[in-house]
Amino acid sequence: MSSTRSLLHLILLLLAYYYSTHTTANGGNGTTTQCLPDHSSSLLQLKHSFHNPKLPSWQHGTDCCHWEGVGCDRASGQVITLDLGDRNLRSTSGLSPAIFNLTSLTNLSLSGNDFGLTSLPGFGFERLIELLSLDLYNACFAGQIPIGIAHLKNLRSLDLSYNNLYLQDPSFQTVIANLSNLRELYLDRVGILSSKANWSVALADSVPLLQNISLSECELSSPIHHSFSRLRFLTMINLAYNEISGQVPGFFAEFSFLRDLALGENYFEGQFPTKIFQLENLSVLDLSNNFGLTVHLPDFSSGSNLEYLDLRGSNIFGAIPDPFVHLKSLKFLGLSSIEPPEQPTTSIANLTSLNGLWLSGSGVEKP
Ligand SMILES: *[C@@H]1O[C@H](CO)[C@@H](O)[C@H](O)[C@H]1NC(C)=O
Ligand SMILES: *[C@@H]1O[C@H](CO)[C@@H](O)[C@H](O)[C@H]1NC(C)=O
Ligand SMILES: *[C@@H]1O[C@H](CO)[C@@H](O)[C@H](O)[C@H]1NC(C)=O
Ligand SMILES: *[C@@H]1O[C@H](CO)[C@@H](O)[C@H](O)[C@H]1NC(C)=O
Ligand SMILES: *[C@@H]1O[C@H](CO)[C@@H](O)[C@H](O)[C@H]1NC(C)=O
Ligand SMILES: *[C@@H]1O[C@H](CO)[C@@H](O)[C@H](O)[C@H]1NC(C)=O
Ligand SMILES: *[C@@H]1O[C@H](CO)[C@@H](O)[C@H](O)[C@H]1NC(C)=O
Ligand SMILES: *[C@@H]1O[C@H](CO)[C@@H](O)[C@H](O)[C@H]1NC(C)=O
Repeated sequence: MSSTRSLLHLILLLLAYYYSTHTTANGGNGTTTQCLPDHSSSLLQLKHSFHNPKLPSWQHGTDCCHWEGVGCDRASGQVITLDLGDRNLRSTSGLSPAIFNLTSLTNLSLSGNDFGLTSLPGFGFERLIELLSLDLYNACFAGQIPIGIAHLKNLRSLDLSYNNLYLQDPSFQTVIANLSNLRELYLDRVGILSSKANWSVALADSVPLLQNISLSECELSSPIHHSFSRLRFLTMINLAYNEISGQVPGFFAEFSFLRDLALGENYFEGQFPTKIFQLENLSVLDLSNNFGLTVHLPDFSSGSNLEYLDLRGSNIFGAIPDPFVHLKSLKFLGLSSIEPPEQPTTSIANLTSLNGLWLSGSGVEKP
């Protein structure tokens, strides 16, 4: 009796083993689909373009869907995500074109590696048409941004910041023209050499859903055009370290989602629109070193979520004492007015969460 039971048990075990190995190995619709052979070989070519031996799990003959940084679609086995951010990879031959054979990629990150100031390949990016997110932040690429990126019309997030890149031909306007799904655009330190004057029109025309934009150190000039007011989903605007002139647009006060506004180190002039201070969720405001800009501080009596307020090098008017008592969230405050405010204050003593304070020539006494 017990021997028939154990025989039955053994048969069941064998059956279970048969099914588990066969659904895995045949690449069918089991729970584990294996990586496609051509994807595997593209990834290995990519690996061999790096000098330093990294990515130890990337071995010929193993399932690439289990390699570090690689993610596959469960049903099709196609590689859809490749996250090689901050893995200390080095290449002096540049980005291997093998990567462009991974045409099902939706998310690609190579940020924080060292591509030795090589150019981005002139052709190939246009093949990655499924891309939703492309992150090449701080990866030591240099030169012109290739036209292929202009074809990635599904992109929601593009980060090319902190390389040695520029946009001349194709221009900034051409590259963003069809990227109408972008929510996040980070191009800090990209030289925008071709649309210096009408960059704000180009953005308003092309990327209406933009939420976060960071264009610091881009060599932008001219005033911000009124059409920029169409970008009403903006949550974060960083335009610091450019040569933008004219007034700070009053329509910023209508961007109700705005949290971060960084306009420091430009040539803004005239009066800063005080109603911007009333934005419910404004937490970062950097107006530093716009020497022609005048800021009239409101009384913050109804409270404020400001955490970071940098007014160094702007002309500040209005009583400083009372406003700041209401800035309970403040962590950084920068003041060094050209025109010292009329009434000095000691109320800063009550800013309990403050952990950064820069005061010089502001007429404010340190507690
Ligand atoms: C596996 O599933 C996908 C969709 O989930 C289907 O398109 C494909 O035909 C299936 N393949 C097999 C071999 O059953
Ligand atoms: C891309 O794939 C094609 C065939 O699918 C192949 O001929 C070509 O060599 C591959 N290119 C690279 C750079 O791996
Ligand atoms: C891929 O990118 C999109 C757009 O930025 C993002 O929403 C999504 O979470 C990313 N997916 C993965 C797996 O990182
Ligand atoms: C943008 O799309 C239009 C219309 O489909 C097309 O004519 C144009 O060539 C595209 N521009 C780029 C840079 O891909
Ligand atoms: C921006 O200026 C360039 C030339 O200076 C012009 O070709 C282009 O059409 C302008 N773009 C917009 C959106 O006005
Ligand atoms: C956009 O910027 C805001 C403010 O800095 C930040 O909190 C948010 O995470 C960013 N959104 C995305 C999708 O990264
Ligand atoms: C402000 O932020 C809070 C919390 O994140 C959110 O619930 C609210 O909708 C935001 N208000 C606006 C106008 O975006
Ligand atoms: C600081 O707060 C205390 C009580 O919270 C209050 O009595 C005092 O007047 C405040 N000081 C200033 C300068 O606002």
